[in-house]
Amino acid sequence: MSPASAYAPGRVELLGNHTDYNQGVVLAAAIDRGLTVAGISRGDRFVVFTSKTAGVGVQVWLNDLQPQLEERWANYPLGVVQQFIDAGYEITGFAAEVSGDVPAGAGLSSSAAFEVATAGLLMKLHEIRMEPLALAKLCQRAENEFVGVRSGLLDQVTSVFGKKDHVVYLDCQSEEIRTIPFPTGFALLVAESGVKHNLLRSLYNTRRDECAAAAEALDVESLREVTPEQLQAARASMDPTLHRRAAHIVGENQRVWRALEALQTGDVAEIGGLMNASHESSRVNFENSTAELDELVTIARSLPGVLGARLTGGGFGGGTVTLVKATEANDALQALRARYGEVSGHRPPGFICRIADGAAATWQK
Ligand code: GLA
Repeated sequence: MSPASAYAPGRVELLGNHTDYNQGVVLAAAIDRGLTVAGISRGDRFVVFTSKTAGVGVQVWLNDLQPQLEERWANYPLGVVQQFIDAGYEITGFAAEVSGDVPAGAGLSSSAAFEVATAGLLMKLHEIRMEPLALAKLCQRAENEFVGVRSGLLDQVTSVFGKKDHVVYLDCQSEEIRTIPFPTGFALLVAESGVKHNLLRSLYNTRRDECAAAAEALDVESLREVTPEQLQAARASMDPTLHRRAAHIVGENQRVWRALEALQTGDVAEIGGLMNASHESSRVNFENSTAELDELVTIARSLPGVLGARLTGGGFGGGTVTLVKATEANDALQALRARYGEVSGHRPPGFICRIADGAAATWQK
């Protein structure tokens, strides 16, 4: 069997924070940074996985896949292997190496890129065909069950379905996936806070439980069903924390729908305003921002050409995304890094990200 490889991009979340596991709606985009998993079949029942960047590796027996306690990074690909086995596919031993340029812990979903690229390699090595949505869901299950983060479907869908210069709209209830042109003349800046979202696993799951409790208090299956008016009416009778969690989700869904209209009419200023409102809601209602993320968005918003800025992804650390006029993007990036450096003592890594094709499109090329 000859060697094979598969690539999958990271993603940037534009609006719709923590809405995915609440059956809500999201806007995101695949970015021009990602991971490649290259490998070859072995004649035995061992999986050997190495990380080129980190210079570490694991060797595990296929018949007894267990989550790794030391080399936790390996749980993303191993979880995918386990899902293929659980789905009934004949998986044989293989050796693989991951490499790439999407930073881990920056809110850009290196985890989904890793899962999707691993799934792509397994499909190539074992000549498996799978519908893109089924593939995204398999990768999500790997993260839920093997890694232990009860994440939604946003990251995997965006990594698989992304389209160059388009944003991905995902409705987690109907599973509608649509791609919409990103306005020309504008750019997205990503900046890392330098605080890896280490607490993501525990706090993420806590927020998920709180959202479920809020839905129960409101007597609905999911927060997707709640209108702003219903939420307002329940204010006095609900636990204040659960009410704020629900307010974030209900508000985020509304902001995604308003952004869809703004994308139709080309009202980019409106999208920037919605991003600012989203961050404010994260800070106050969902409490998944940090002082560093707040600082980054405050600086970003003061810069010429910037329309809006917010945290991107799960929060509790990670990074921010800033919407800026393309002509001002480079200056804004340099100023953001310099000013944040003055405040925090270190210049944060950052880059202008281009909106790229997702894995499904790149595998066809
Ligand atoms: C992480 C999760 C996603 C989503 C976002 C927040 O990226 O993996 O499923 O919940 O956080 O929107």
